[in-house]
Amino acid sequence: MTVHAIIGGTGLTELSGFVLQERLLMQTPYGPQSAEILRGEYAGREVLFLARHGHPHRLPPHQINYRANLWALKQAGAQAIIAVNAVGGIHPAMGSGHLCVAHQIIDYTHGREHTFFEGDIEHVTHVDFSYPYDEALRQRLIAALMAAGYSFSSHGVYGCTQGPRLETVAEITRMERDGCDIVGMTGMPEAVLARELELPYACLALVVNPAAGKGASIITMAEIEAALVEGIVKVRAVLARVLA
Ligand code: HPA
Repeated sequence: MTVHAIIGGTGLTELSGFVLQERLLMQTPYGPQSAEILRGEYAGREVLFLARHGHPHRLPPHQINYRANLWALKQAGAQAIIAVNAVGGIHPAMGSGHLCVAHQIIDYTHGREHTFFEGDIEHVTHVDFSYPYDEALRQRLIAALMAAGYSFSSHGVYGCTQGPRLETVAEITRMERDGCDIVGMTGMPEAVLARELELPYACLALVVNPAAGKGASIITMAEIEAALVEGIVKVRAVLARVLA
């Protein structure tokens, strides 16, 4: 049976109903991972869990060691990854509380360690990244969302910004012109590093605020936190269905 790993984003530092069996701290050539990997049973299956921002939450998006995280998960036995990401909504359908199974990415980040293929390597490798997310895993998320009856989109272009600041209105307008539906800060390079390690990877994004200029006022952390508290309940229910 495939061993799934969940990478929990903001608001998801633990899985309820998860029976913890082991805490793993892997040695990686890239330095320390964000937190101990939790190995345990969820709905009767072996599952790994990693809190992307650390537990407690302490790493901002641009300081996450994405390479160490992905490497450590692979070493710990992960065979597929479901990433949970809190995002801002750009497309009118992406209101707070909406869930989106992203199908494409535009990467606006810079200066992040974004590849395993560098340094003293035998072959320069250019991985195919036409379709950044694994379609079979995406379809499982979609089926779980349909069964749960939540409002969601089966497609969405995830624009990944550098952070930690939120965007300007002009930046969001530009991203909208580019075709972005949601905006977050942690989708990349995580997705491409999973691809480089040949790990199927999919993203379950929870909209926690209208992106800059898309709401009635400026964005507050209080608004984001309130949307997270409500939305994470749905995320957990979806994960339980996907893993069952
Ligand atoms: N922009 C970028 N990242 C985010 C946002 C946003 O509006 N909301 C949550 N993560």
